[in-house]
Amino acid sequence: MFVRRAYIREPDRPAQRGQWPFAVPCVSQLADEGLRFTAPVTFLVGDNGSGKSTLVEAIAEGFKLDAYGGRLAAKRGRPNPQRTPLGDVLTLETTAAGSRMLGGPRSHKHGFFLRAETAFNLTENLGGVPGYWDADTASMSHGEGFLTIFSEMMSKPGFYVMDERDHADERGADNESVAAPRSPRGAKRRHTSLYLVTDNGDENAG
Ligand SMILES: Nc1ncnc2c1ncn2[C@@H]1O[C@H](COP(=O)(O)OP(=O)(O)O)[C@@H](O)[C@H]1O
Ligand SMILES: [Mg+2]
Repeated sequence: MFVRRAYIREPDRPAQRGQWPFAVPCVSQLADEGLRFTAPVTFLVGDNGSGKSTLVEAIAEGFKLDAYGGRLAAKRGRPNPQRTPLGDVLTLETTAAGSRMLGGPRSHKHGFFLRAETAFNLTENLGGVPGYWDADTASMSHGEGFLTIFSEMMSKPGFYVMDERDHADERGADNESVAAPRSPRGAKRRHTSLYLVTDNGDENAG
């Protein structure tokens, strides 16, 4: 594992919780209690609007990923990496392996933030770019492009964050459910909204 805990330091904790993102209950809880990672893979599951994207974007930022999405330690990153108000105050407590990765050379930095909203732009623009993948993902289907990102960018132990697309069109359709993956044969996967923060590495790995 690379990260043990996400938390907000006392001086960074907002006194007022009335405004986004601190008005979101899971963010408020995070501010009070922190969020502890106990396994190499963590899934965040909740209703639309419950704060999963807000959390994973900030966690990605905490590990020096661009909240827009993309790889860790990009040679030529976007000129203005995207930041979020929660990311600005969130601190990650890294394990020894996590600290080594963040402090180590670029070639040892394996991490990717795959946001469904922006992954398509990445597949359009990054095929053949050094440090990414060779395949011409611009001429692939979305699904094939995703699979290329998985296989080329997430094959090594690293810090991987994934966020599924919003299902804004389905908001309110099933407010009462706490997401359990539904049958893929269903006509639509109604807001299973299954978000994944993976932190897949060996604490003792060099
Ligand atoms: N940039 C923003 N400014 C203000 N409110 C936001 C912003 N982004 C998300 N929200 C609100 O924060 C809440 C949590 O959103 P989000 O993290 O996207 O939820 P989820 O990913 O679980 O569907 C929602 O009420 C949403 O409308
Ligand atoms: Mg979301």
